[in-house]
Amino acid sequence: MRSHYCGKVSTDLIDQEVTLCGWVDRRRDHGGVIFIDLRDREGVVQVVFDPDSANFSEADKIRSEYVLKITGRVRARGESTVNPNMATGKIEVYGLALEILNTAETPPFPLNEHSTVGEEVRLKYRFLDLRRHEMQNNLKLRAQVTSVIRRYLDEQGFLDLETPILTRATPEGARDYLVPSRTHDGKFFALPQSPQLFKQLLMVAGFDRYYQIAKCFRDEDLRADRQPEFTQIDIESSFLSDEEIMAITEGMIRQLFIDVKGVDLGEFPRMPFAEAMALYGSDKPDLRIPLQLVDIKDLLKEIEFKVFAGPANDPGSRVTALKVDGGAEISRKQIDEYTKFVGIYGAKGLAWIKVNDLGQGVEGLQSPIIKFLGDEVTLKVVERVGAKDGDIIFFGADKSKVVSEALGALRIKVGHDLNLFTCDWAPLWVVDFPMFEENDDGSVTALHHPFTSPKCSAEELKAEPLAALSIAYDMVLNGTELGGGSIRIHNQKMQETVFEVLGIDEAEQREKFGFLLDALKYGAPPHGGLAFGLDRLVMLMTGADSIRDVIAFPKTQTAACVMTDAPGTVDPLQLRELNISLRKKEAKETK
Ligand code: AMO
Ligand code: AMP
Repeated sequence: MRSHYCGKVSTDLIDQEVTLCGWVDRRRDHGGVIFIDLRDREGVVQVVFDPDSANFSEADKIRSEYVLKITGRVRARGESTVNPNMATGKIEVYGLALEILNTAETPPFPLNEHSTVGEEVRLKYRFLDLRRHEMQNNLKLRAQVTSVIRRYLDEQGFLDLETPILTRATPEGARDYLVPSRTHDGKFFALPQSPQLFKQLLMVAGFDRYYQIAKCFRDEDLRADRQPEFTQIDIESSFLSDEEIMAITEGMIRQLFIDVKGVDLGEFPRMPFAEAMALYGSDKPDLRIPLQLVDIKDLLKEIEFKVFAGPANDPGSRVTALKVDGGAEISRKQIDEYTKFVGIYGAKGLAWIKVNDLGQGVEGLQSPIIKFLGDEVTLKVVERVGAKDGDIIFFGADKSKVVSEALGALRIKVGHDLNLFTCDWAPLWVVDFPMFEENDDGSVTALHHPFTSPKCSAEELKAEPLAALSIAYDMVLNGTELGGGSIRIHNQKMQETVFEVLGIDEAEQREKFGFLLDALKYGAPPHGGLAFGLDRLVMLMTGADSIRDVIAFPKTQTAACVMTDAPGTVDPLQLRELNISLRKKEAKETK
């Protein structure tokens, strides 16, 4: 139908005839001359019809979002009408023929005013929202990303293999989406939280190198970087060490950034989990922001001030300082806001010291807590964090988890507020994760998943599970966990030990993971891999605020699709076939 994309008409085509197909982005009537901005996925071009044009009367009828086929002659714009903000701004197309391929009702929101209508409306009319330039670019970049990744992995000998969607639960820490079985009364499939177990079985089967751009399903609390249905770039290999796996996948992300963004991320630094928590209060530190946490527990053990002395003497607590260079200018009002902000993470307050003039000793400091700390301790603290005139020091004292989360988040917030970024891209590997974390009731959960190999023997693992480290690695970019993986357990005894530590008894092991334990008996090779979150990767590469903006048809914050109205009710007959009857929710169960 067409000879060129609208966005690709250039000065090279001047004086040539082109045929374009697309949507009316804008139509303006300038005293008899009609200007149409015609849009397709590659961009917009201006088409001009004047009363001499054969189809002038047709041109007069057209409205926003009509679908047109236009033939015209490309001509240079006069100097005064060149539009430097438009890729096709140096030319226009003089309309010779016009065909209206389809009309359109007035859209529920003008596409250039999408920001004022709210996301719910954009999602309801997603097919229109996706026509916008920004969304077209996001999804085009997404396609480019998967294309580069496929090529890279194909070249490295990875095989693109599919794994089932109707399956059994794979524990990745979220709730499962369940699908009732019609042919097996009372039984359910679970949608995969990841292809984890199947990719391990493909290694047992000898495929050696696997990848899949795989849909995963997790019924969990949603945030800007989480969707119930999302996509992983899932990778697994046999006979490769953790170092080799990290080298291949780091190479993949570097290549991707070079090809798609023209940016060389360089070599990724490594950071042990313990260091990330100590210095940044997070296992996914944003290293674009140079601020670090400094522990000062040892300085505060003897003081009277219970707020600090209590946690200073408790092994499960932290007392930590965050020095912000030049932060003495932060107002009291802003400090009050930061205090509220850390409250979200459970912090009970936010003590601070402003350093106005160190030459005057404590006299040159300003703070609500010097009187509680005493002059000597105060000066030691100031020295420990290396504060100088013009700085502010914030403090957190509480259970380690609370302090790490609160000051870790404050670090990021202050970094944004004061624009302390030192670079555009800060990738790193976080390594040496603990195998397990302790729940409030004393039980333990796997930090990654239960198939991750520990660094120690089964005996050591059993004796001191919380001290064990795993051979796991997370790739972090600008404070977002892009991907994570590990060397897996390929020894049946070790796998049983891990299940045992997790409190999964033998009967449950057989019932849930019998197939895996069996596979480990029949010559499972040493293997490992990782999975990247494709949506998060594309979000970072496009600069989008949410992964919803890089997914064609995402779910809302309440895990619904407002366009198709899913989830929906089903026909009672369908439920009968499944032998399901719906129970009325009791009043106290409904929110
Ligand atoms: P994990 O659970 O860390 O590991 O997931 C891997 C990556 O997937 C992305 N991700 C998500 N993205 C959007 N919405 C979600 N709800 C969501 N959950 C996770 C993240 C994350 O880093 N089987 C293991 C991988 C392995 O060990 O090989 C796994 O699934 O970017
Ligand atoms: P208070 O004695 O409660 O008025 O606290 C004195 C100062 O310490 C105030 O600036 C509080 O914000 C701060 N503060 C209170 N509890 C904590 C805490 N757990 N961690 C850090 N600062 C705190």
